[in-house]
Amino acid sequence: MRGHALVVDDEPQMLVAMDTALRRAGFNVTTAASGLEALEKVESEDFAVVFTDLRMPRLDGLQLLAKLKFQRADVPVVMMTAYGTIQNAVQAMKEGAADYLVKPFDARDVDAVIKRVVASSASMTSGEFLTATPAVRRLLAVARKAARSTATVLVEGESGTGKEVLARFIHSESSRKSRPFVAVNCAAIPDSLLESELFGHERGAFTGATMRREGKFELASGGTLLLDEIGEMPRELQAKLLRVLQEKTVDRIGGREPVPVDLRVVATTNVDLAAAVESADFRQDLYYRLKVVRLHLPPLRNRPEDIELLAGAFCAALGGAERSLSEPALKRLSAHAWPGNVRELKNVIECALTLSSSQQIQEQDLFLDGPESRSGSSAPRTVAEAEQSLILSTLEQTNGNRTRAAEQLGISIRTLRNKLGQYRSEGIEVAEPAGKESNLTVPSGKDSHREEHVDDVA
Ligand SMILES: Nc1ncnc2c1ncn2[C@@H]1O[C@H](COP(=O)(O)OP(=O)(O)OP(=O)(O)O)[C@@H](O)[C@H]1O
Ligand SMILES: [Mg+2]
Repeated sequence: MRGHALVVDDEPQMLVAMDTALRRAGFNVTTAASGLEALEKVESEDFAVVFTDLRMPRLDGLQLLAKLKFQRADVPVVMMTAYGTIQNAVQAMKEGAADYLVKPFDARDVDAVIKRVVASSASMTSGEFLTATPAVRRLLAVARKAARSTATVLVEGESGTGKEVLARFIHSESSRKSRPFVAVNCAAIPDSLLESELFGHERGAFTGATMRREGKFELASGGTLLLDEIGEMPRELQAKLLRVLQEKTVDRIGGREPVPVDLRVVATTNVDLAAAVESADFRQDLYYRLKVVRLHLPPLRNRPEDIELLAGAFCAALGGAERSLSEPALKRLSAHAWPGNVRELKNVIECALTLSSSQQIQEQDLFLDGPESRSGSSAPRTVAEAEQSLILSTLEQTNGNRTRAAEQLGISIRTLRNKLGQYRSEGIEVAEPAGKESNLTVPSGKDSHREEHVDDVA
């Protein structure tokens, strides 16, 4: 058995055909007739791979992809499209799809994609952290020491720098490595659900609590709990978290007595928590408790040695031994600013491998947005400038839709709104939502997959 696959398509025949093909390939299969249904299924089940149609009413394939990347960054998503234009494929790959299938396709095509996708994702979740940068090597040495202690660890770094990979590394270097590793993205779960997600609830604790449910603290007991984007945790929950760390017990919602838990917490943030403490958005006592060991992952543009190393590693892992990168391609990669960090690098390599049929990837196979960072024409850029250009271009891509832009960027909508407010106050033009941003779904033909969106789907 190769695990559980999810297939999402609004055409029933397609679901049946994929179900057959995937079962034959050794998967357990779940199907969903819409993007929204898919999101629900993903909540309760860990999938090894997701196949989704691109054009679907309400939540389309790209929107689903963005949500999945946000909630479960690691699940490979394969885009299926009947409209086999190269642009659709490029767009999907750029936004993080692992591969694509152009309809009509047959079982052999599905097998080939599975081979590529499953092989690559398996080779990347081993708890290995690749680096050739001396400063990051030193950081790994500290992480290894921390792993052998019981200390709580705070990992800081821009989006896509490898914070989760580092958290898994800590887990795999600890005595807890055979126990569960559980990740929760505090920014992806609405505040109202986060408490029960983390702490669990007793049956009847609130309307809708029809069953007792264990929270993530209990599920991770014995192992490691990764709290992603801890800065987005509401203040009341921060107090509850502090109690867990101090007392080593959790209070289920509606529970009578505390349940003992034994786990290590690794928290990540891509905002400056010290500043959040300053502005009273984050509790100081919790901050001190979390930063017992504090690891700061530098952005990829400050890890020049890592660009070539990781590019080569991704090329080998995703493309196999016969694929390689040409010298000029490597040079071009080294010159790029990488606002999306390692995640962007991985996407670019994946995209190049999929779209080019030659053995060696050439410079023109690389789809890189924006100016170069170190050599080339543009002036040196600051982090703030890179951030601004990434935010504005993402907002343009989403036609001004804040919710989607925030998700793609991996930041909260609140952070996004603050940044946009700041840009506007500096006189910079900011894309407005097409029409008005609302919960309304615009009914449309299957031919325009850009105009619809559903806001704030949990
Ligand atoms: N050192 C590394 N070695 C191998 N793969 C890496 C490394 N760093 C990052 N990656 C890959 O890059 C992608 C992004 O990494 P990761 O999810 O850990 O970033 P992150 O900092 O947690 O991002 P975010 O802030 O958006 O959650 C993943 O696909 C991961 O496998
Ligand atoms: Mg992460």
